[in-house]
Amino acid sequence: MNKHGCYMGDNIKEIIDFSYNINICGIKDGLDKYLLSKISSITRYPEIDGLSAKNAICDFYGIDKKNCIMGNGAVELLYLFARVVNFKKVLIINPTFTEYERAFKILGTEIIWGNLKYEDNFELNICKFKELIYSDEIEGVIICNPNNPTGKYIDEENLVKMQTIANNKGIYFILDESFIEFAMDEVPKRKFKGEKWFILRSLTKYYAVPGLRVGYAIGSETIIKKLLKHKEPWSLNTFAIEAIPFLLENREFYKKGNNQIIKNREYLLSKLRKLTNWHCFDSETNFILCKINENADKVIEYLFKNKIVVRTCDDFKGLDQSFIRLAIKDLDSINILLQVLKNYYI
Ligand SMILES: Cc1ncc(COP(=O)(O)O)c(C=O)c1O
Repeated sequence: MNKHGCYMGDNIKEIIDFSYNINICGIKDGLDKYLLSKISSITRYPEIDGLSAKNAICDFYGIDKKNCIMGNGAVELLYLFARVVNFKKVLIINPTFTEYERAFKILGTEIIWGNLKYEDNFELNICKFKELIYSDEIEGVIICNPNNPTGKYIDEENLVKMQTIANNKGIYFILDESFIEFAMDEVPKRKFKGEKWFILRSLTKYYAVPGLRVGYAIGSETIIKKLLKHKEPWSLNTFAIEAIPFLLENREFYKKGNNQIIKNREYLLSKLRKLTNWHCFDSETNFILCKINENADKVIEYLFKNKIVVRTCDDFKGLDQSFIRLAIKDLDSINILLQVLKNYYI
């Protein structure tokens, strides 16, 4: 299992952590009291399938209930999907989120890598997509959009074209949209062609609740029915179920956080691009990928000595130790990072 995910023991208060990528808005006022008011419910089992949470999600995002399943984070649904479809071969477009590989590999699925190149800015276009999905006898293709860790975003038109190409080949189109709300205010009401499509979504990042574990997936009726048959009961706990309507009702608060992230991201990019040995990629989400072309290890170590943690990227297939991912944080933290880097390069 990968070591990242931001828990850093007792030193956490002293450290500025650019490694974990959640909305900078913090906890919405009143969420603590609201959840405490639900405390008496923990003496009973929660709903077996998180039905009221699913209703709230479907109403808010305009999803047909037959096309939706709730999970203990998007990751639970990824592992469930991998178990249920039991592919012989799957194509993962990389560099990308490391859990896709693990979820399929532990079942014996062969991973075919769709290596995107640094020279192409790690961008995926229709031509490259076609070439990749026809290169092997795969049963499904996984795309993360916006992609972790590159921050690259495929627009609606191209995404729909890619799904059509996958559908024509008769393979599953698996899309992870866990960061989609950072890239667009109005989340698309998805309904793709055919039976073989599956989309992961997460409340973890945008609503800043990694500890609650709330995710959902949208898919064809056929796949959702199969997943519901195989799913463990009670995977959403009482607080997760209760929090969902509260989080959705307060979406403006989270949107404000994201508006600030967008400003801070462009500010950080403009400053980092002045460093001669750094190459920083454009991003449509709440983190940026940077390549440090000289002595990356030394820079990372220097930052750490100055109590700044970044996400190293050598565990992402297709990247190496010269890449780092920086979450977009508040302006004060960004300015401290910039000052420390300035001191390093003096
Ligand atoms: C692309 C991507 N999808 C899903 C997840 C996990 O989401 P959740 O917390 O809902 O399981 C992550 C976490 O880092 C991620 O980067």
